[in-house]
Amino acid sequence: MQIDILTLFPGMFEGPMTESMMWKARDQGTLDLRLHDIRDYSQTRYRSVDDMPYGGGGGMLMKPEVVVRAVESVLEGAPEGAPVILMTPQGRLFSHEIAVSLAQKPQIVILCGHYEGIDERVTDLVVTDEISIGDYVLTGGELAAMVMVDAVVRQIPGVLGAEGGAERESHADGLLEAPHYTRPPEFRGLVVPPVLLEGNHQAIERWRRTEGLRRTWHRRPDLLMKATLSEAEQYLLAQFADEDAHRMAEDRQS
Ligand code: 6GU
Repeated sequence: MQIDILTLFPGMFEGPMTESMMWKARDQGTLDLRLHDIRDYSQTRYRSVDDMPYGGGGGMLMKPEVVVRAVESVLEGAPEGAPVILMTPQGRLFSHEIAVSLAQKPQIVILCGHYEGIDERVTDLVVTDEISIGDYVLTGGELAAMVMVDAVVRQIPGVLGAEGGAERESHADGLLEAPHYTRPPEFRGLVVPPVLLEGNHQAIERWRRTEGLRRTWHRRPDLLMKATLSEAEQYLLAQFADEDAHRMAEDRQS
C-alpha cells in the first residue's frame, strides 16, 4: 500500500513513522509511505504557502494554488479514484470501520491542514473525504494523520505478527476486550482470575467474552447499540443491569 502525506511539517513524522510496527511495515515492503513538503510546491520568491482570509478574522489560510498543485502532482500515476483525505476537525469521525476500508486501497493521499485551515476551493477541487479523529482541536492535521495511518496500517494483512491478529482486539467486534494478566499469579495481594490458570480454553473464551461485555456495559454502553449480540450475551447484559440495580439499592440503604 502506498500512502502519500502532504504537510508543511514533514519532520513531525520522523519519529513515529520510523519505529515499531510502522517501521516493520515499511521495512517488509508492505507500506510505501511518502512524505511531501507542501512548501516545495510554492512558486513565490519566499516559498509562501499562506494568505489572509477574505472578509477578515484572525489567522492565515493555506493558499489554494500551492495545495492543489501539490495534490495533483502526487496524484499523477495514482490509480483512478485514489482517496484524497483532508485531516480537519470538521470531517467525519474516524473509526475502526474507516480504518478497515482504507486498508484495502492500493494508494491513499492525506492532506494535513494547518493555520486556520485551507481555502474551500481545495476541498471542492481535489479532496474526496474529510476526516477528524475526535471532538477537540489540534494545531494541525499531522498528529491526526499519524493516528489514522497507524490504525490503517495495522489492518493490512501480515503487518501484525503472532502478537495479535487485528481481528481479535477491542472494537473489531464492536466490544471492549477483557482484562489481561501475565505472571506472577499473585501480585500485591491481587490474584489472576483462576479460570485463566486452568487451561480450559472453552471456559477461558467464555470468561473473556463475559468480561469484555461487562467492560463495555460499564465504560462504553454506547458501543452496545451497534454490536450484534447472541441471546446468551443479551442475557448477560440483563444480569449486569440487575447487579447495578442491586448495588444502587444497597448504596441507598447505607
Ligand atoms: Cl483531523 N485536525 C485538526 N486540526 N484537529 C483535529 C482533527 C484533525 N481531529 C480532531 N481534531
